[in-house]
Order: sequence, then C-alpha cells, then structure tokens
Amino acid sequence: MSEGQKQIILTGDRPTGRLHLGHYVGSLKRRVELQNSGKFDEINILIADDQALTDNADNPGKIRENIINVVLDYLSVGLDPEKTTICVQSALPALHALTFYYLNLVTTARLSRNPTVKAEIQMRGFADEGLPAGFFTYPVSQAADITAFDATVVPVGEDQLPMIEQTREIVEKFNKTYGETLVLPKAMIPENETQRRLPGVDGKAKMSKSLGNCIYLSDDAKTVKKQVNGKMFTDPQHLRIEDPGHTEGNVVFTYLDALCTDEHFVRYLPDYANLEEMKEHYRRGGLGDGTTKKFLISVLNDILDPIRTVRAHWENDIDTVYDIIQTGTAKAVERTNATLARVRKAMRINYFEDRSIVKEWERLLREAKQ
Ligand code: TRP
Repeated sequence: MSEGQKQIILTGDRPTGRLHLGHYVGSLKRRVELQNSGKFDEINILIADDQALTDNADNPGKIRENIINVVLDYLSVGLDPEKTTICVQSALPALHALTFYYLNLVTTARLSRNPTVKAEIQMRGFADEGLPAGFFTYPVSQAADITAFDATVVPVGEDQLPMIEQTREIVEKFNKTYGETLVLPKAMIPENETQRRLPGVDGKAKMSKSLGNCIYLSDDAKTVKKQVNGKMFTDPQHLRIEDPGHTEGNVVFTYLDALCTDEHFVRYLPDYANLEEMKEHYRRGGLGDGTTKKFLISVLNDILDPIRTVRAHWENDIDTVYDIIQTGTAKAVERTNATLARVRKAMRINYFEDRSIVKEWERLLREAKQ
C-alpha cells in the first residue's frame, strides 16, 4: 500500500465537557510530545461531535457548547494547529458514508461483545430504557474516523482498545472482501500504569463530571486547592503525623505517581530528592497529610499555570480559534474524501467517476440476449 510507509496519527474526543487532568495525563500530554517529536507525517485530531450525539440526541446544544471548550483545552496544552490538524467530525461527510459501508461488515453479535460499550450501556441506563442503534454502532463510526485518515497509530486511553480492535477487524474484512484498500491501525496507550487511569479526587475509578470529582484544565488555583483539600482522602489509619502511613491506595500519592518529577522536589519540597524518598518517610511515620497535599497542590499548579496562561490568550480571540478549526476541517474534508473515493473504487460503486460502466452495462445486456 502506498500509504504503508507514512506514519499517521488520528485521535479524538467527544465534546461533552471540558477536558480534565485525567485526559491530560492519559492522552493530551502524550499527543503534544508526539506532535513535537517530528516522527509523524501527519497528526489529526477529531472533535467527535457526531459520536457525542449518539447518547445526547436530545441535547445537541451541550455538544455545540463544548466544541469550543475542547478546542481551547487542546490549544492550551500546546497542540499547535501548524503541526496538528484539528477538525470537526460532523463536517466530514466521508465519515458518514464509510460508516454505512462498514456497518455491513460487522455483526450485531460482535458489537454486543464490546466491553467498553457494554459498560457505557449500563452506566447510561440504556439497558432498561432502550438502546439507541446509533450508540450501539458507534464503534463502527469510530472505525470510519480512523481509516478515513489512513491512521497507522491511534493514541488513546485503555478503555478505547476495543474500538481499535473492532477497527482492525473491519479493515481486515474490508481488504479481504474488496482488495487491499484500508490501512491497519495500531493503538498506542500510555506506558505508565498510573497515567492510564487517573482516579477522581475522591478516589473513585474515573474522573467524571457527574461525580464532581474532576480537576479541569481550566480550573483556577482556588478550585484546585478546594478539590485536593476537601475531597482527597489519604490513609484513614494515618491519624497522627507520627503514625506510619500507607502510600498505596492513597489518592495523594496516586496523583504524585502520575504527575510529579524530581524537578518538582527541587522547587517545592527539597527535603526529598524524589518521590521514593518522600514515600519512605510517609510509610515510616512523621510526614503529615498537610505537607503531602500542599506539595501536590504546588505540582498541580505548576502543570496548570502555563495551560491557564495560554487558555486566557485564546479565550480573548475566539475568532481565530474558529478559523483554526474551519481550516483544519477543510483540510480533513479533502483527506477523508480521498479515502472514500478509494473505498468506492475498491467496492466498484464509483459509478459516476467516468462513463466506463456504460460499456459494461451494454455488454451485459448483449450477453443476456444471446
Ligand atoms: N471514543 C473516543 C472517546 O470516547 C473518542 C473518539 C472518536 C476517538 N473517534 C475517535 C478516539 C477516533 C480515537 C480515534 O474518547
């Protein structure tokens, strides 16, 4: 395949809310590193507003509102529109057409087995209320997203692995049925275990808007302090400072594991050279939760301050932000239309590309008469 050599990234987010620290450590930070590594021929980020509609059909206003929040989050963390194409899914008609063709290459039984979708169905109460067919099939639309860009690498969180698996199966089925056409993508998930799934500030498995346990990239310092001091539990057995403490299952340390560097110690807590030394002291006894939380707050603000500064700049120039996504989307329209043309050609349903089919039809009619 001609694209085989090129390294192309496609990833995306549903615009259903502002992005939070979980998104940052699990994916955004990595995207910026990949963007700046210079190792990729193309980086595309999709604002998946169509996918967001699959469980928000009654509330398109929420998605409309969050498109700008998500783009501001992207720009704030350092995604650079000169290097990364940011585009809006609903404005890419090729994705709709591809989804429609791919739906014929998967079975409902296969879709029912997707563990992430299964969990989401439970969470949203669709098991009782009735399951929207669009939601049930969104992994197929995600396969369209990925293949439309000829993506070779899809950086995502762990929960997205079933989508990439499904995409690979669709690619294999397509290529087997219609000839080598689509590029087989690979998932890329965070190496660091704690970065794969940052818990909420309350220790619950995931940051979620409805649980109020998020730290948003757009939160101010006061809010961050309130979340850490008010909602983070440490070690319930660590009552007095002198008591030995547990660092496992202690949310403050889980966050430090995911976020802090030795440099942070130099700057904010020079008593220790690194996190391991600090943990040893905590386990031994003599290190108070006030100190660990204060350090974590410094680390958080150290990460968030530059993000806040860049955000403030873009918030004052929404006109330019609009131009950025309009330009990115226009580029993505071309990109994905080219893939759709290739797909239709492989399926031999490209009837109106030229008139060669007229000859073919004439021949078939002639042969039928003989
Ligand atoms: N399903 C992804 C999520 O919920 C968002 C998404 C849509 C995506 N299309 C994508 C991710 C394509 C990677 C590639 O986060």
